[in-house]
Amino acid sequence: MDEVDKIVKEGVTTEEINTLVHKMTTDAGAIPATLNYEGFPKSVCTSINNVVCHGIPGKTQLKNGDILNVDITTILDGYYSDMSRMYMIGEVSNDARRLVEVTKECLYTGIKAVKPYTPVSEIGNVINDLADKEGYSVVRALSGHGVGLNFHNDPIIEHFRTNRKTMIMVPGMVFTIEPMINQGTFDCDILEDDWTVVTKDGKLSAQWEHTILVTETGAEIITK
Ligand code: MF3
Ligand code: CO
Ligand code: CO
Repeated sequence: MDEVDKIVKEGVTTEEINTLVHKMTTDAGAIPATLNYEGFPKSVCTSINNVVCHGIPGKTQLKNGDILNVDITTILDGYYSDMSRMYMIGEVSNDARRLVEVTKECLYTGIKAVKPYTPVSEIGNVINDLADKEGYSVVRALSGHGVGLNFHNDPIIEHFRTNRKTMIMVPGMVFTIEPMINQGTFDCDILEDDWTVVTKDGKLSAQWEHTILVTETGAEIITK
């Protein structure tokens, strides 16, 4: 991800980001988990502006003012890890910048709610409170997930407020927190390619993701 930071700028194509991630992953003896995962064709997800997640790298060039999420999942020695970051290309609007920053705060607020013997629903409760306060909505169609020997495992980590009874966090559990926060409504559509998730109203969406280990005292960020 740090190497992606160095190449992301106006004019770069999302295909070039894919090429970098694919090469660095395989050079390290690891496997890009998204490649051929349920038919996903690339080694990274790149989601621009109104794309919520699962954007497919291709010929699209980054342009001034875009916001971009890069989501990398790696398998090394049989273990998965999953993280994503936002990038702001050139001069972005104040509105877009605020969305990106608040979404990052949503992630870290969620991480702070990780405590052993507490229900995982507490994570979504604090994230939803912050998003509400900032006038944003929380995507409901996709969630965080346990991760380890598989890509997506229990527990499901909802990022919105839920009064459902959920699993209790226990030390040793590993899961992602990856809030997708929208400027407008939380409703999403899926494009014809069957992967790209977009906001229904065409407004912006942002996402940040870490893989988290529950410890005896709180949380350790594995993907730091
Ligand atoms: N990395 C995504 C997640 O956070 C999943 C991508 S699956 C793909 O769970 F098939 F779209 F790549
Ligand atoms: Co994930
Ligand atoms: Co991810």
